[in-house]
This record gives sequence, C-alpha cells and structure tokens, in this order.
Amino acid sequence: MKNLMKGISNLFSNYLWLFLALVASNTAMSTSEEAQTYIVHMDHSNKPASFSTHESWHRYILASLSSMQDTYKEETLLYSYNHVMHGFSARLTPSQLSELEKLPGHRATYRESYGKLFTTHTPKFLGLKHSSGLWPAASYGKDVIIGLLDTGIWPESSSFNDRGMTPVPERWKGVCENGTAFSPSNCNFKLIGARSFSKGLQAGGINISKDFDYDSPRDFEGHGTHTSSTAAGNSVITAGHFGYAKGTSRGVAPGARLAMYKVLWGQDTAKSAATDVLAGMDQAIADGVDIMSLSLGFDQTPYFNDVIAIASLSAIEKGIVVVCAAGNDGPSHNSTHNGAPWIITVGAGTVDRSFLGTLTLANGLTLEGISYFPESVYITNTPLYYGKNNTNKANCERSSLDPIEVTGKVVLCDNNPEGDVYSKISEVKRAGALAGIFLTDKLILDPEDYSMPSLVLEKSGGSLVRNYAMATNSSMVKEMKFVTTKLGIKPAPQAAYFSSRGPDPISPGVLKPDILAPGQDVLAAVAPNKPFMEVGIYSLVTDYALYSGTSMAAPHVAGVAALLKSVYRDWSPAAIRSAIMTTADATDNTHSTIRDSWTGLPATPLDFGAGHINPNKAMNPGLIYDIGFKDYVEFLCNLGYTDQQMSAVIRKNLWTCRDNSSDLNYPSFVVTASNVTTFPMVRNFTRVVTNVGDDNSIYRAISESPSGMRINIEPNTLNFTSKGQKQGFVVSVEINQKDQSSIYGYLKWVDQHNHVVSSPVVAITI
Ligand SMILES: *[C@@H]1O[C@H](CO)[C@@H](O)[C@H](O)[C@H]1NC(C)=O
Ligand SMILES: *[C@@H]1O[C@H](CO)[C@@H](O)[C@H](O)[C@H]1NC(C)=O
Ligand SMILES: *[C@@H]1O[C@H](CO)[C@@H](O)[C@H](O)[C@H]1NC(C)=O
Ligand SMILES: *[C@@H]1O[C@H](CO)[C@@H](O)[C@H](O)[C@H]1NC(C)=O
Ligand SMILES: *[C@@H]1O[C@H](CO)[C@@H](O)[C@H](O)[C@H]1NC(C)=O
Ligand SMILES: *[C@@H]1O[C@H](CO)[C@@H](O)[C@H](O)[C@H]1NC(C)=O
Ligand SMILES: *[C@@H]1O[C@H](CO)[C@@H](O)[C@H](O)[C@H]1NC(C)=O
Ligand SMILES: *[C@@H]1O[C@H](CO)[C@@H](O)[C@H](O)[C@H]1NC(C)=O
Ligand SMILES: *[C@@H]1O[C@H](CO)[C@@H](O)[C@H](O)[C@H]1NC(C)=O
Repeated sequence: MKNLMKGISNLFSNYLWLFLALVASNTAMSTSEEAQTYIVHMDHSNKPASFSTHESWHRYILASLSSMQDTYKEETLLYSYNHVMHGFSARLTPSQLSELEKLPGHRATYRESYGKLFTTHTPKFLGLKHSSGLWPAASYGKDVIIGLLDTGIWPESSSFNDRGMTPVPERWKGVCENGTAFSPSNCNFKLIGARSFSKGLQAGGINISKDFDYDSPRDFEGHGTHTSSTAAGNSVITAGHFGYAKGTSRGVAPGARLAMYKVLWGQDTAKSAATDVLAGMDQAIADGVDIMSLSLGFDQTPYFNDVIAIASLSAIEKGIVVVCAAGNDGPSHNSTHNGAPWIITVGAGTVDRSFLGTLTLANGLTLEGISYFPESVYITNTPLYYGKNNTNKANCERSSLDPIEVTGKVVLCDNNPEGDVYSKISEVKRAGALAGIFLTDKLILDPEDYSMPSLVLEKSGGSLVRNYAMATNSSMVKEMKFVTTKLGIKPAPQAAYFSSRGPDPISPGVLKPDILAPGQDVLAAVAPNKPFMEVGIYSLVTDYALYSGTSMAAPHVAGVAALLKSVYRDWSPAAIRSAIMTTADATDNTHSTIRDSWTGLPATPLDFGAGHINPNKAMNPGLIYDIGFKDYVEFLCNLGYTDQQMSAVIRKNLWTCRDNSSDLNYPSFVVTASNVTTFPMVRNFTRVVTNVGDDNSIYRAISESPSGMRINIEPNTLNFTSKGQKQGFVVSVEINQKDQSSIYGYLKWVDQHNHVVSSPVVAITI
C-alpha cells in the first residue's frame, strides 16, 4: 500500500453504504411546457421497414412531433435502447409527451428519477482454497466476464493487474472509452471494458465536468473500484488499511474479467439517473457480459415501473446472471430493494474480524476495545479524566469539557441513550485531550470517524473502567495502543444491522433477500485520489480501504456466480441462484442460527434469506430448482397486471397465462396470511427439481418445523436414475394459528451422497 501524503502508513474508509436510494424526481420546475426527461418504451414491431435501425426510427418519431422545435431535434434524444427494452429516452414537454403516447406502438412512459448511492480476509472466510473446491474447479473464474454498474474504476490499482491472464475472448464486443484521465490504454486483459453514461444526469442539469467527477470511466468516488476488486480483483500482496486487515487482497473470482459501466456520478453521495442506468445495462448486454452486478437501486415500485426489474428480466432471458444489493434500510422489515424474483438479491453479513485497540489501566486491568484509529501511537502513564475528581459522569456532550481540565489526559465518556459516539469524539478532540475512551451499548461509527486516538468499549468492559475511575482519585492509563486486527471473532457471520430485511415490499410471497454475503468492513481497492480521513494536520490517503454496505455484499455473490458459470457453462441464472441458496449456511461459526447484529438475537430468513453464501458447497448442490423466462411470465400473470403493464415488463405483445395457480419454482417458500385468514390454513406449493449430482441418487425429504407449522412433502422420496432427470413434488404447509411475528422451518432433501438441498419455509402475516 502506498501512502501519498505525509508519513502515516495507513488509511481507512468508512461505511459507505452507497446503495442508491432513488429519490422521486421532483426537481424539475413545473411550468407547463418545461421539458423533462422521459423513458419511452415502444413496441418495435411497429417500426416501419424503411428505418434500418431503431435509433433512426426513434429520431424520426421525435422530429415529427408537431411541437418539436427544429433546434431541439438533434439534442432531445438521450439514448436509444435495444436490449433492455425497445425505446428511448428524451427531453419532452407535456404536450410532446401526450402526442407521443397516442402513437401506435407506444408501450409505457417512465419519468426520469434520480438516486444516490448505497478483502484481504473475505475470500478465506468464505472457505475458498487454492488446493480444493470451487477456486481450482473454476480456474478462478477464467474467461467469465463480470459487468459492474457503478461509479467507475481506478485502472492503475494493483488489483486490476492482468498477470497470468490470456487475451480477451473474441466474443467480447465491449470497448474502453477515451475521456478525462482515462484512455483505452488503461484497459488490459483483466479490465476489458470501461464506458460511462451521464447524458441523463446532464440533461437533468448536473454539470459533471465541474469539480464533480471525471467525465470518463475513471472512478472519483472509490465505490466502483471497491466493488470491482471485490468481485474479480487479481491477487495483491500487502494490501491493508493503515495497518489493519493486512494480508493478500484478492477478489472472489480472481481469474474473471471486468467491465465497468459508470452510471453513478459525484463525490460523497454519488447520484445516478434511471436513463443512464438503463443505458449502461443495455450496453452491458450488447457487449456480452456473463454476470451483471449492481450495488445500487431505486425506490421500490411495481415491476412495470421499475427500470432495473425490466432491464434485468431482459438480461435473464439472454442467460445473464443479475446480482443486486438489497439495500441498507435495515434493521426495519419490509425494506428490501431489487427484489424481483429473477434477480439475485443480496443482504450483508459481518465477517469474523475485529479491529481493536488495547487499554491497560494503572491497576493492571487490560481490555480490548473497538478502534479503527489508523496510527500505531502509544499512550503511556497518562491521567484518566472522568468528570471532576472522577466522581461525576462525563457525558462529553457538546461544549461540556473544560480544556484546562482535560488537556494531556485520556477522557472517559459515558454511554448515552442515542449511542452517539461521533459527537463525543469531536468534543474530546475540541477540548484538546490526548485520547478518548467511549462507553456505548450500540455502536454506529464509520472507520474514518476515529480521527483521534479512541477506543470504544461495550457494556461489561465499560463498567470495569468506570468502576476503576470512580474508586480512584488519581486514576491513570498505563498504556493504550492501536492497530490490531483480530480474526476468528465469534459469532460470525451476523446479519449486519443496516442490511435491508424482508418481506419484500413488492412481492412478499417471494423470500428476499435471497442470500447473505460479507458486507461489513470489507477491504478492497479504492481510488487514491483524495484524502480518506483527517488526523490532526494530516490528510490520509489510501488505495485499499474498508467499506461496509450491501453494496459490498453483492459483488461477492457476483464473483461466486462467475466461478459457478465457469464450471457449469450451461446453467441458467436461476440454476446458479438455486445452487447458491440451497447450500447456504443458516448457522454461524458457533453452530447456532445466524444472529442479528442489531439485537444480538437469532435472526430469521427474513434477515438472511437462505443463509450465508458457501461457495464450495454451491459447486455441488445435488438438486437445482430451475426457472425459465416463461415461468417468470407466469408469475407476472398472477399479479393482476393489465395487458399494457404486462407488455411493459416482458417487452412482448403476446404471452400466455396458462395456469393461474402455478408457483414460481423458487428454492424458498413463503406462506402469507392476512388479518382475514382463518386458521388452521394450508398452502400447497408445487416444485420441480433437476438432478445435477450423481446418476443414481435417492433423496429423502426432511422437514424441520416450529410449533404452529406443519410441513408435509408428497412424495417424500425422489428416486433419480440419471443426471439431468427432473422430479416434481408438492409441499403442503399448515399454519395452526395467527402469529404476530414470522415463524419458519426448513425443507431439506438429503441423498446417500451427502447432498443436503435446503430451503427455508417462512410464514408471515401481511
Ligand atoms: C481523449 O480524451 C482526452 C480528454 O477528454 C482528450 O484530450 C483527447 O484528445 C482524447 N483523445 C482522443 C484520441 O480522442
Ligand atoms: C460545466 O462546467 C464547466 C467548468 O466550469 C464549464 O466550462 C461548462 O460551460 C459548464 N457546462 C454547463 C452545461 O454548464
Ligand atoms: C475536587 O478536587 C479539588 C482539588 O483536587 C478540590 O478543590 C475540590 O473541592 C474537589 N471537589 C469535590 C467535589 O470533591
Ligand atoms: C478523593 O479526594 C477527595 C477530596 O480530596 C476525598 O474526599 C476522597 O476521599 C478521595 N477519594 C478516594 C477514593 O480517595
Ligand atoms: C412495505 O413497504 C411498502 C413500500 O415501501 C409500503 O407501501 C407498505 O405499506 C409497507 N408494508 C408494510 C406492511 O409495512
Ligand atoms: C389470475 O389471477 C389474477 C389475480 O388474482 C386475476 O385477476 C385473474 O382474473 C386470474 N386469471 C384467470 C385466468 O383466472
Ligand atoms: C384487516 O386490515 C385492514 C387494513 O389494515 C383493515 O382495513 C380491515 O378492517 C382488517 N380486517 C379485519 C377483519 O380485521
Ligand atoms: C394439498 O396437498 C395435500 C397433499 O400434500 C392434499 O391432501 C390437499 O388436498 C392439497 N390441498 C389443496 C388445497 O390443494
Ligand atoms: C429407483 O428406481 C430404480 C429404477 O427404476 C429401481 O430399480 C429402484 O428400486 C428404485 N429405488 C427405490 C428406492 O425406489
């Protein structure tokens, strides 16, 4: 790791949960004839044969609008879309829009919306090994192409070196754009595509060239560099974060290739326009990516209004796996984003690693506390200050400390109900103390908030120090030191407190999130173009940093999907998801149910989906629950959409809704009850599994259910004689009483070859 400023060798990052929460577009002033940006979905079968391309047809439509001024004809078209939908985006006045909506072939209109954003150790934590399992079987993801829709990429990062990689496959149609501080020569055999999309944002009045971002695929924010290196960074030795988390950094699929589609722009809170996201996804499909990873999202809205859902379904139809972050709106329930059933929706888990400082008191007591302070300073034999004469509490509220009393001392600050440690660090710093010890019940702090030597102690440790201070008039800190990384922390993983939880607001009957992956304190490459944090007079810069968010979890799953795609070229996106879900771990490293990091209590599938991803097991799932495009159409048939809404989602005029009661062949089960349900209630699910394991396999069904739930499987034995064979069964779930909270159990198919194909069965009241 390089440091670009002063002599401090570590740098830290912060919880950037740059999950893109789309804010409704109410920015345009609404004088009646003001132009606004719209996405217009057209039925391409209406294109007259005289137009050789869709774009020429789109331009013609726009130019022919009676109210269109000649001067606008050229500029009004932003993008012409060919893959995610047939249509375009343009600046239109209300009268132009209504004229357009009357044209034959008009399918749907969407108003522009704007959004803002939402591993050295992690691959090892996932169980990936060089000697056996998925890494060697998949040749580390060789020749699979992962496209990321993000803030851009810092191509010089060591994580994107192409050591050991072969020339770009001929099927690849992508390019590396020229632009500000970026040229095609920045690409190599690892980074094989880099494009940027900002027309929509600029049409909305945002000047991206002005102290805002690089007008090119280069990453200003750092987020896209982080997600890219997490998914497929090559190995880099001595990556670290100001000394924390040192080791070898490598992506989940270090042999896979990367293509960046920059659709998020800006510095601290990157923004994006729906038109640009759609253009990026359209291009990624055209270029030939195998996997798409989106650490962004929009406000939850029905699928016929959700451009990511529509574009993803188009990608899925072409066999492209789409992985999306679930959002950072936890721990509230009903908060998942990107929950369409064709998307792999990823929640964030903690990893088994802590960042610590150590405190030794004059009485010999030694304690470890949480600290991300980036310098290995030592504090020795310093008075401890805990209010006047150590008899009063020191709340360290704003302006409460007297510099004369605390200068040169270590200040001990009490817990307050809000758990706001950030403002206390500021106060201790303002008053000129040497260091701070902060007692808290609930810690919400970003790594870069540790801008002075600080140690955070949770409950029991805190009361030991408090008791010592109150019992002694001349209490002293013998020693404080920083920069310790501790592995093997238990319990881990936990569902990170910020990770969005199910049920899904749009389709509560499909369990979301699907899966948990590492998303808290993930170390990966960042853009070393700006200070990461300030410590005293120093601005610290780093090229590897710890970020947290479901943004960080999604690229882990994209990497695992790339590895699986490398082993099983013919698997559908749903088969890959099924393998990941049915082999996930619902237990932590203490063999208990994964906990919720917010409450410390056992979490449920509404928090962790099928469980925490286990890549080596996903390589050999035994059975898969496959789903094809037609099945998703059937699913949509049951939502009661109008014909126009249906055609807007599936981009076709003809479809058949065969069977209104058919279930999506999903690898998890949700029984929904409402306040009018009478109990006991029974819900039957039909499923079909495909044998991808051994030829002769006999599976027996095992059900695990809590009181109040009964799971019956018919037949309860599946006898396969060859690979590829399919067998159907019915799962009958009986719920005996109304339950305030959710209850859940499991259906597991177990064969004689040690395959365990596990699915959560959840009952919720909506
Ligand atoms: C590449 O972009 C830079 C910056 O925008 C510009 O100065 C340069 O002329 C461009 N080069 C080519 C070959 O277009
Ligand atoms: C954007 O900012 C640049 C630099 O200040 C300026 O030259 C340019 O004219 C601006 N463009 C628009 C459309 O405002
Ligand atoms: C605190 O200590 C100072 C001097 O050390 C003394 O003057 C003062 O009376 C003490 N106050 C209390 C409340 O004990
Ligand atoms: C601390 O100092 C005060 C005032 O000097 C004295 O009254 C008190 O007994 C002392 N407490 C202890 C624990 O030594
Ligand atoms: C779930 O969220 C959606 C959208 O955010 C909201 O409309 C709905 O009322 C919520 N449902 C519940 C049960 O909270
Ligand atoms: C299918 O279900 C939807 C929603 O429940 C309903 O509106 C529609 O009439 C049903 N269609 C048929 C063919 O039963
Ligand atoms: C069920 O809930 C809805 C909305 O919360 C309410 O309007 C309705 O009266 C409830 N019905 C019963 C039977 O409680
Ligand atoms: C559900 O399945 C069970 C057998 O598993 C069957 O006895 C029952 O009739 C089914 N109920 C419905 C409503 O289809
Ligand atoms: C499974 O099927 C094979 C071939 O039909 C048959 O020989 C075998 O007895 C069956 N096993 C069981 C347990 O049903």
